[in-house]
Order: sequence, then structure tokens, then C-alpha cells
Amino acid sequence: MKFTSAAAIAALSGLSAARQCQNITVEVDVSARNGVFNQTTPVTNIDVTNFLLNLVQAGKNYSAATLEGYATVSGKYQLATTYCEPDSGNASTVQLLTHGIGFDRSYWDLSFNNYNYSYSCEAVDQYGFATFSWDRLGIAQSQHGEAVNEIQAWLEVDALRALTEQLRNGSIAAIGKKYEKVVHVGHSFGSQHTYALTAMYPGISDGIALTGFSQNGSAVCGVPEFALGGAFIQANTVAALSDYPNGYLASATPSSVQVNFFSPGAFDPKILALAYSTGQPVTVGELLTFGGETGSINHFAGPTIIVTGERDTPYCGGNCYALSPSIPQLAFATIPDAKNPQAVVIPNSGHGLNLEYSHPLTYKTINDYFVQNVGAGSTAGSTAGSNNGRGGRGGRGGRGGHGRGPQ
Ligand SMILES: *[C@@H]1O[C@H](CO)[C@@H](O)[C@H](O)[C@H]1NC(C)=O
Ligand SMILES: *[C@@H]1O[C@H](CO)[C@@H](O)[C@H](O)[C@H]1NC(C)=O
Ligand SMILES: *[C@@H]1O[C@H](CO)[C@@H](O)[C@H](O)[C@H]1NC(C)=O
Ligand SMILES: *[C@@H]1O[C@H](CO)[C@@H](O)[C@H](O)[C@H]1NC(C)=O
Ligand SMILES: *[C@@H]1O[C@H](CO)[C@@H](O)[C@H](O)[C@H]1NC(C)=O
Ligand SMILES: *[C@@H]1O[C@H](CO)[C@@H](O)[C@H](O)[C@H]1NC(C)=O
Ligand SMILES: *[C@@H]1O[C@H](CO)[C@@H](O)[C@H](O)[C@H]1NC(C)=O
Repeated sequence: MKFTSAAAIAALSGLSAARQCQNITVEVDVSARNGVFNQTTPVTNIDVTNFLLNLVQAGKNYSAATLEGYATVSGKYQLATTYCEPDSGNASTVQLLTHGIGFDRSYWDLSFNNYNYSYSCEAVDQYGFATFSWDRLGIAQSQHGEAVNEIQAWLEVDALRALTEQLRNGSIAAIGKKYEKVVHVGHSFGSQHTYALTAMYPGISDGIALTGFSQNGSAVCGVPEFALGGAFIQANTVAALSDYPNGYLASATPSSVQVNFFSPGAFDPKILALAYSTGQPVTVGELLTFGGETGSINHFAGPTIIVTGERDTPYCGGNCYALSPSIPQLAFATIPDAKNPQAVVIPNSGHGLNLEYSHPLTYKTINDYFVQNVGAGSTAGSTAGSNNGRGGRGGRGGRGGHGRGPQ
């Protein structure tokens, strides 16, 4: 077990506490009913653009049109994860953090400005939670795969299921404890995974925070803006991403990252450079299965908060108040049983909440909500809420049997 001291980091950022973090490779055994699409793997950048133009055509549903059938994809995959706990080691609740498109797990632990933008630092050192982040299956330091019919949304959701169960049953040896409480925090596509996970297994989580999320992105044209605004090209034509196979797509320039993630005037230009230089790709298969993940009603009954930047492009079309009461608030129409549902719109933030000057409000909003509704539990008696969200764990009813199309 390799512990790396975070004391130096804490000293630099003026914190008295110093979380203990370690990188752990976790093997998961997953299975999902993937879509089989009549879509060739793009080879040239012209192929990539053709695919995206097909995907966003008004009045058409390209993924439904190209869906030929389903195939079960199963196997063991190696995932890159980072686990952090308070230096007391006393957390009773772990936050399972799932990043979105364009990033890897460093989204939750940005080194920028001496880790001042680190969500994990805040959650662990200021609130007493443990955090566990992972590179999504197929992305960054996690195992890669075939980009059209393998690396798709539902396979990744099953990996999130497996990680949750491993945190609860203590089978990750390097962590060496069982967590009774696991809350899930997602960003963007990671929020969609969190939504899909808790829709399938409503007992699996003690609380969820869906950041950079709504259900009405399509109503305000946010999805095509994202798909085209990202100026995606074949990832392996970018030097830093050269070992990805064809069908993994990355943003061409810092400006295309800015379009999709940043609010005008609300960020340090140097963090845009970092976001671009450490950016990670999205697969064709993920884009084909993106829409269907949040299409069912979610009967999760635990604490649920939605936190979205007011200028979010993909999920709000650049204005979360374009619909009333707000686009994030409207999403509770599909999470009708949520306990203490709250939707918070962050002023001066775009889709990339953690990279904006407004990140302290984002972090405080999420962590205060969990302390009040779930409890961090770093020391005795700090748990404000009780654990009402779980009554029915299990209920998986067959691996990969989600019974929904991948749309
Ligand atoms: C974990 O891995 C990341 C990416 O390689 C690295 O930047 C970070 O320093 C590592 N953290 C620890 C605690 O070893
Ligand atoms: C697959 O798509 C191509 C066009 O891209 C079309 O010509 C062909 O008929 C399709 N195949 C099936 C089985 O739908
Ligand atoms: C852990 O929490 C317990 C109370 O639950 C406390 O007695 C103990 O001192 C804490 N340990 C550390 C190292 O802070
Ligand atoms: C970063 O700095 C801001 C402004 O000083 C502060 O409000 C915030 O709490 C800091 N965040 C972290 C994670 O240290
Ligand atoms: C823990 O959960 C994982 C994922 O479901 C499972 O593969 C493993 O067998 C479980 N281990 C124990 C000790 O229950
Ligand atoms: C917003 O999304 C909800 C939930 O999917 C849906 O019921 C509602 O019709 C949508 N509103 C608009 C304006 O698209
Ligand atoms: C595409 O069709 C599927 C049903 O086949 C549906 O679930 C999905 O929401 C549709 N996508 C869009 C963008 O309308």
C-alpha cells in the first residue's frame, strides 16, 4: 500500500488537514447489453465530421436509425482510480466521483493553483468525506477498447455499479475497509451514468449530486451545440492522445474546449490551457448511447441535488433560465421520489463547473447538502441526516438486463 503525503499540498494551500491519497488499479467484472450500430469506425477527420453531422440532424434520430440490434459485452476491465481519505482515516461516507466527456478523474483533483480548484481537497479536508474517483471505462488510464460497439454508456454504468459494490463490501484491498455509505457525484456524462445507475438500482446509493446536468438540453439545442461546438477530430491525431484507436474523438483546439465548458469572463485563461492539454476523448459508441441513459423515470428515493452552471451550453443552451422555473429544476420531473430535491444554478459558471472562478460555491453547495442529508461522519455525532435512501439494495435483476435501448 503506497501512501503519498499530501502535506506539502495542504501547506501550500493553507490547510491544516492533509488528506491521504493513493492511486489504485481496480479490476471490475462487468456486463451490459450494448447496442450494435451500423456505423463504421471513422478513419479520417472528414469521417468524424460526417458522423457528427449525422448525429445532430434536426428531425432525425441517427442512433435509432443505425441501431441494428443488441449484443452482450462482458469481461474484466482494469480501471484507474484515486482514493483519498482524511488524515484521521475516519470517514464513514465515501463520495464516488464520475467525470464527464473531455476530462479524466483529475477533474475532481485539479492541480491548478496549488490544488485550490481540487474538489477532493475540499470534500476530504474541509468536510471529512473520503473520495474515490475513476477514469471512465475506456478513457485515460483505464483500459481502452473498441470505440463503436464496445465502449458505450451502459458498459460504463455497469462499471460504476461494480465499483460501488466493491466500496461497500471491502474488496478493494488497498482501501481496507467497508463503506456503509456511498454517495455518487457526477459531472455531465458522469451525471448521466449516476442517473442511469440509480434508475436501475434505486437502493445502490445513499445520495446523489448531478452536476452539469438537466433533462432539457435537447429542448434548448444544447446537445447539437456541444457536438459541433467541440470541433471533434480523431483523438490519435493529437500528440498527447496518439495511442487511442480510431473512433475516439477529441476537441481540436482550446477554443472548442472553451465553447463547451467555460462561461464568458468567468475563468482564468491558464486553466483553459490546462483543460486542453490534459483533455481526454469521447468514443463514437458513447455518443450513440448518450441520449438513452436518462430516458427513463428514476425512482431513486434518496437525497438528490442538481448543480448546474447558469451558462451551461450542453444542458441549458447557455441559459439555465430559458425555461421556467429553471432547466435544472425541471429535471426533477423524472426523479419524482427524490428526498429533499434541490436544484442550484451557479452564477458565472459554464458547463465545466470545477474550472471556473465560481468553484468554491459549487463545492460548498454539494458538500453542505451531503453533510445535512447524509452525513460525512468523520467524527462521532456529525451525521445530520439519516440513511433513508437505501431500503432496497440489490434488485439488479440480471446483469446487463436493463431492458432499454441504448438511445
Ligand atoms: C496518481 O496518478 C496521477 C496520474 O498519473 C498522478 O498525477 C498523481 O500524482 C498520482 N497520485 C498519487 C497519490 O500517487
Ligand atoms: C448501413 O448503412 C449504410 C449506409 O451508411 C446502408 O447503405 C446500409 O444499407 C445499412 N445497412 C443496414 C443493414 O441497414
Ligand atoms: C476517529 O473518530 C473517533 C470517534 O468516532 C474518535 O474517537 C477518534 O479520535 C478519531 N480518530 C482520529 C485519528 O481522529
Ligand atoms: C480557493 O480559493 C478561494 C478564494 O481564496 C477560496 O474561497 C476557496 O475555498 C479555495 N478552495 C480550496 C479548495 O481551497
Ligand atoms: C464485492 O463486490 C464485487 C462487485 O459486485 C464482487 O465481484 C465481489 O465478489 C464482492 N466481494 C465480496 C467479498 O463480497
Ligand atoms: C423538460 O424535460 C421534462 C422531463 O423530460 C419534460 O417532461 C418536459 O416536457 C421538458 N420540457 C421542455 C420544454 O422540453
Ligand atoms: C432517439 O430515439 C430513442 C428511441 O429509439 C429515444 O430514446 C431518444 O430519446 C431519441 N433521441 C432523441 C435525441 O430524440
